[in-house]
Amino acid sequence: MNLTFNDEERMVIELARDFAENELAPIAESIDQEKRVPIEALRKMQELGLLGLMIPEEYGGAGVRTSCYAQVIEELARVCAAVAIVLSVHNSVGAYPILRFGSEEQKQKYMPKLAGDWIGAFCLSEAASGSDASALELKAKRDGDDYVLDGSKLWVTNGSIANLYLVMAKTADVPDKPHRGISAFLVEKDTPGLIVGKLEDKMGLRGSDTAEIQFDGCRVPASALVSEEGVGFKIAMQALDNGRIGVGSQAVGIARGALEEAIKYAKERVAFGRPIAEHQAVQFKLADMETEISAARNLVRRAAWLKDSDQPHGKEAAMAKLYASEMAHRVVHQAVQIHGGAGYIKEYPVERYYRDQRITEIYEGTSEMQRIVIGRAVIAE
Ligand code: CAA
Repeated sequence: MNLTFNDEERMVIELARDFAENELAPIAESIDQEKRVPIEALRKMQELGLLGLMIPEEYGGAGVRTSCYAQVIEELARVCAAVAIVLSVHNSVGAYPILRFGSEEQKQKYMPKLAGDWIGAFCLSEAASGSDASALELKAKRDGDDYVLDGSKLWVTNGSIANLYLVMAKTADVPDKPHRGISAFLVEKDTPGLIVGKLEDKMGLRGSDTAEIQFDGCRVPASALVSEEGVGFKIAMQALDNGRIGVGSQAVGIARGALEEAIKYAKERVAFGRPIAEHQAVQFKLADMETEISAARNLVRRAAWLKDSDQPHGKEAAMAKLYASEMAHRVVHQAVQIHGGAGYIKEYPVERYYRDQRITEIYEGTSEMQRIVIGRAVIAE
């Protein structure tokens, strides 16, 4: 496994780190408190080429390897996890499925836009189908040269800011294998019948929007179908294999940011006559935090490397996401503990990291679903 970055990749990672420190650090707290998506920062990321990171150069993107992209997400999440997830969803479950399964016409039409000023979103979950993704009910009915979509999606990251939605819909009832009746469609924001519904008021990641998207007689041409009818579930699963590398990186970034804050505080805070960083109880916590972060990052890099070398990586992506998100839970918990009472108030960033981390154990598949993916894979092996 090659874990080194070339000069160009190092430049991209440094660009992301500088951007995070100079542009995101000053607004990370206010966008969280105001529950505001920082459109101005996203536009700058588009100008810098950071948003279309994984889109190949031939379509106007940066075309970096997944390992580099994962490190970029870590750099952003270290400072602002809300912006990191915009980038992760846009690339992993927005653009990637089109690259992997779309027709050349769809790629020519959408990739340059997604590498430019468009943002992508992924619509899978519904009120009655979250973990059990194949139980979705949104219908797409063929009508002449069109399909007509009716139903509603929930938990759509980038829901209110996206220009293009990848929508999983039921085109056929297949009683004992419902997933084989699911198809994927590309729906542009301005399509009549696509309605951005309720915006969720979340515990964390408040600088990223999560919306309900309704489809009310939403008519799209047959050319909006990705691949063919019945392969939508497979497209969604492969998109999520990719997305879980992004969420794993996001969790590593959150944990790293929390560790850095804990170290800073431990050097400043004096108790029993010396900085608490000099107490072994605190040093042991910091040691465990650093060790776990490194272990999680290596799992993320391994999954990314497998994907870059065109090898199966579903199990490894699930392992990376599972371990990194639960590791981040432990690390932010200790970071707050090291801060004592200070960690419980909004003046210190660890309070935000604590809230932001929680969703990494839930979205793009809960920890329980990751264990199912990993468990089934090891048994099959
Ligand atoms: N790649 C390709 N195909 C896959 C696959 C993968 N990774 N995983 C499964 N499949 C295929 C199987 O081969 C099988 O195909 P056939 O039977 O047709 O040959 C089919 O899909 C069904 O597989 P399973 O029987 O394993 O499916 P299941 O119903 O038992 O579900 C599951 C498995 C892993 C639990 C899956 O439902 C799952 O991942 N659930 C979690 C969903 C999820 O992550 N949701 C998050 C939504 S997005 C979000 O969070 C918001 C956002 O905006 C970011």
